[in-house]
Amino acid sequence: MSALLRASCVLLLLWVSRSSGCRVRIPPHDQVAQVARFVAHQCDWASVATVSTHRPVVGRPFSNVFSVSDGPEGSGTGVPYLYLTRMDISVQDLQVDPRASLSMSLAQTDYCRRGGFDPQSPLCAHITLSGSVLEVTGMEAEFAQKSLFSRHPEMEDWPPEHHWFFCRFNITQVWVLDYFGGVRTVSPEDYFQAPEAPRTTV
Ligand SMILES: *[C@@H]1O[C@H](CO)[C@@H](O)[C@H](O)[C@H]1NC(C)=O
Repeated sequence: MSALLRASCVLLLLWVSRSSGCRVRIPPHDQVAQVARFVAHQCDWASVATVSTHRPVVGRPFSNVFSVSDGPEGSGTGVPYLYLTRMDISVQDLQVDPRASLSMSLAQTDYCRRGGFDPQSPLCAHITLSGSVLEVTGMEAEFAQKSLFSRHPEMEDWPPEHHWFFCRFNITQVWVLDYFGGVRTVSPEDYFQAPEAPRTTV
């Protein structure tokens, strides 16, 4: 096989595996709670804003990036779990005030790129969650571990001397921007009652 032909085959294989592995089928726009659950399950990371305790921005919003998982692939619960260390400056903020805001966007999947949707476009579905970050223990910590480590395998090897612990983002309000017509809100009750978002065709 010529080098050129081989290279073409590799590219074709990559293209096939990417296109079959990354197809996102979003729920209908009018199923707002379902859309929110879908976005929450698709996303592997989130921007989390805290109220800063650090000079020179004490008292101001401070956003940071965290890996999240709301459940192992295909079984999302809607609850974003986090794996945190007190060495992190945002976690230090949360120890003083656990209130936070978390946002996730389908811009991190192929959905927006394929559709040609800019991340700020309402067509590139994104959600903002309000609530607080709470440490979990026992069975819920076990579930958080399973959820996070299955989707972020390197977490298992993070240095133990950083004393990692599991948290849930405890949702008190959900904002959804998906399609035109402005942002829509969803109560935690409706959000958690929405059918589980499959991740099978992602
Ligand atoms: C957690 O969220 C629920 C709503 O889903 C709310 O009723 C409850 O007060 C929250 N708990 C804390 C500690 O913020």
